[in-house]
Amino acid sequence: MTTPKLALVDGSAAKLTVETLVIGTVEGPDGLELAPGTNEIAAAFDGNLTETLTLLGATGKAEEVVRLAASGSVRAEVLLAVGLGKRDQQEEIPGESVRRAAGVAARSMTGVSHAATTLSALDVSAAVQGTVMGSYAFTRYKSSPGDEPVGKMDFVVPDSKEDAAKSALKGATVIGEAVNNARDLINTPPNDLPPAAMADRASELGRQAGLEVEVLDADDLRKHGYGGILGVGEGSSRPPRLVRMRHKGPKNARKVALVGKGVTFDTGGISLKPAAGMDEMTSDMSGAAAVVATMVLAAKLNYPLDITATVPMAENMPSGTAYRPGDVLTMYSGKTVEVLNTDAEGRLILADAITRACEDEPEYLIEASTLTGAQLVALGKRTPGVMGSERFRDRVAELSRAVGEAGWAMPLPEELRGDLDSKLADIANVTGQRWGGMLVAGQFLSEFVAEDVAWAHIDVAGPAYNSNSPWGYTPKGGTGVPVRTMAAVLADIAERN
Ligand code: BES
Ligand code: MN
Ligand code: ZN
Repeated sequence: MTTPKLALVDGSAAKLTVETLVIGTVEGPDGLELAPGTNEIAAAFDGNLTETLTLLGATGKAEEVVRLAASGSVRAEVLLAVGLGKRDQQEEIPGESVRRAAGVAARSMTGVSHAATTLSALDVSAAVQGTVMGSYAFTRYKSSPGDEPVGKMDFVVPDSKEDAAKSALKGATVIGEAVNNARDLINTPPNDLPPAAMADRASELGRQAGLEVEVLDADDLRKHGYGGILGVGEGSSRPPRLVRMRHKGPKNARKVALVGKGVTFDTGGISLKPAAGMDEMTSDMSGAAAVVATMVLAAKLNYPLDITATVPMAENMPSGTAYRPGDVLTMYSGKTVEVLNTDAEGRLILADAITRACEDEPEYLIEASTLTGAQLVALGKRTPGVMGSERFRDRVAELSRAVGEAGWAMPLPEELRGDLDSKLADIANVTGQRWGGMLVAGQFLSEFVAEDVAWAHIDVAGPAYNSNSPWGYTPKGGTGVPVRTMAAVLADIAERN
């Protein structure tokens, strides 16, 4: 991951000598409109810019890119007009539209060494985040990586010397880089990212950012009785880990726990998955990646909170040493779990991690995981399901939508708990029926959350990984969802309690 060089520049966009100058267009009721912040360019352009763009087929719709040679006194070589889509009901351009347009523009500028944008006149943070996330490329495994992402990006703002603009640039850069850090971990293939390697990378990222890091290896896990993590990891020749990271806040800071599923590859184990699409299970550590990246972000932005991450990592493999359907595991909490399906492994490693996280008596616990195929059935590829204690769940879902990650609140119906009753243990890891699988998994996890902890479970089975074409600021492969949701929740807790 390389972030472009980013800078704020003052008002005069037409005078910038850059290769490409990005301007926004809007899909207005009567056709194409130029977005606010483009007046000066329009005036300096030789001829009618709106008319020229319309002649070239521009409509202002989202994802649209139209290039034209700059003329008149515009000093840039090329104008790149990127669509923002429609305005909202208040006639405003939503922040997420700016973020996506900046991402589309960044993806269209590979090979460009110096560009500038006026999208920042609409929303500096969104323009910067979209640029950082949209410039992402994962080329470590390519012999010839192709064109480089845009090298330098100038953000035109009316008040570049002001603290608000500067802190927006910094915050948005750190958040965008955190998303890209998570993507790098997710996109690293499973042969190169067994639990030990992932723990090493997490430790390195964490220590560089000034976090306290502790790694429990398989011996440590056995000594302390982490039966869920050990059970899932048993089939792999590459043993599990539990990574703990801590960011210290000021005295009496509020305590928040983060937990993320780190299954470095999920074959299903003895309850083997079908071959088609199994390769995508390289992304089954996306929750863990998001938590690690969020911790680094929290350290860099120095959130005034005590934040502890508990991140279980294991590889779910079928083998002569693998755990079996029918096994009973004694979990870290002391509860026993009858394993009826070894492919419902995420909840087992998470249960242990959640129990450990709750020992620190956090006020809030946020857990993220690629937990169920049922999330995809219920909400599709782009909408995370958010479950947990009602008020906190709703707050997390709302903040998720505010940052463009689209989280949606889902219930934890009481009656599903009964379906998890086991004939010989305290609880089974799956039910005997197919319905409400995402909610069942949430119910299972709730058994391991301490009373009095406000908690949220974010199922990102679909949203964590983009199997289709890039869109907005989202590339193919790991997306980094829900890093920005967790960052927003932390910032909100820091600000409002
Ligand atoms: N990692 C999968 C869930 C998943 C599916 C993530 C598709 C991303 C895309 C999880 O471990 C799993 O296998 N869940 C099972 C649970 C079932 C056995 C109750 C599932 O959803 O099929
Ligand atoms: Mn599984
Ligand atoms: Zn899994």
